[in-house]
Amino acid sequence: MSEVILTVQDVTKVYTMGAEKVHALRGINLEVAQGEYLSIMGPSGSGKSTIFNMIGGLDSPSAGEVLFEGAKLAHLSSAQLAWFRCHKIGFIFQSFNLIGSMTTLENVSIARVFAGASLEQAKQEAAEVLTRVGLGHRLTHLPSQVSGGQQQRIAIARALVNKPSIILADEPTGNLDLKTGEEIIDLLAEMKQDLGITVITATHDLKMLSRSDRVILIADGQIRRITKKGEVEIEVGSVDGETVA
Ligand SMILES: Nc1ncnc2c1ncn2[C@@H]1O[C@H](COP(=O)(O)OP(=O)(O)OP(=O)(O)O)[C@@H](O)[C@H]1O
Ligand SMILES: [Mg+2]
Repeated sequence: MSEVILTVQDVTKVYTMGAEKVHALRGINLEVAQGEYLSIMGPSGSGKSTIFNMIGGLDSPSAGEVLFEGAKLAHLSSAQLAWFRCHKIGFIFQSFNLIGSMTTLENVSIARVFAGASLEQAKQEAAEVLTRVGLGHRLTHLPSQVSGGQQQRIAIARALVNKPSIILADEPTGNLDLKTGEEIIDLLAEMKQDLGITVITATHDLKMLSRSDRVILIADGQIRRITKKGEVEIEVGSVDGETVA
């Protein structure tokens, strides 16, 4: 395995809701190599988004550690953690999460401004990334004036604009039709290939799997199976009782 960028060590997460405890993660161990394309699959409620929140420093584990390039996230101050999220991680969500009143260019450049660039610099770099994802001709449109696939491309450009090490994409094709979803997967695979970015996706989408270096199957907060590229294909039809095709 090439250089390890991310280590998840014995991570558990328990959500407490009044008297009820939800064991969302029950001891996750995982090493992710730099430049790897990893897909996390599993039924609804199995803990995929919870893992993402831990890796992206949006929430902290109940026990265990997440290490980025060998440094424990738990040891970072809140300012350092904010810096980590801003500069090292690019987030992509199922529902795009764009700002409706801002143009394509503004939606991307604002992320660059938050990272410390001047407005002029941010706009220039945002336009470059948007051109790269095929939206150079839609810079002044609002999100409501472009297609769903194009909205997800804006979100990908926003995730890329600060040159992150890792893209965390939580069901990025969940709201898209088959062909558009495929284009988004191709784009993510291209970013991995061309920019050496580590891509981690949570997905129900079997198309994602053919692009993946490894597929992690989780159920009930535990890793059940890890499949490497070229090894036995994931069975189409059912994963632990859930229909995935
Ligand atoms: N903030 C929270 N408070 C309490 N319980 C939560 C919270 N977030 C998630 N859970 C619970 O933790 C478990 C894992 O949730 P998670 O969102 O990680 O699942 P998921 O695999 O991403 O599911 P989906 O495929 O539906 O997105 C679920 O049982 C969920 O109800
Ligand atoms: Mg989820």
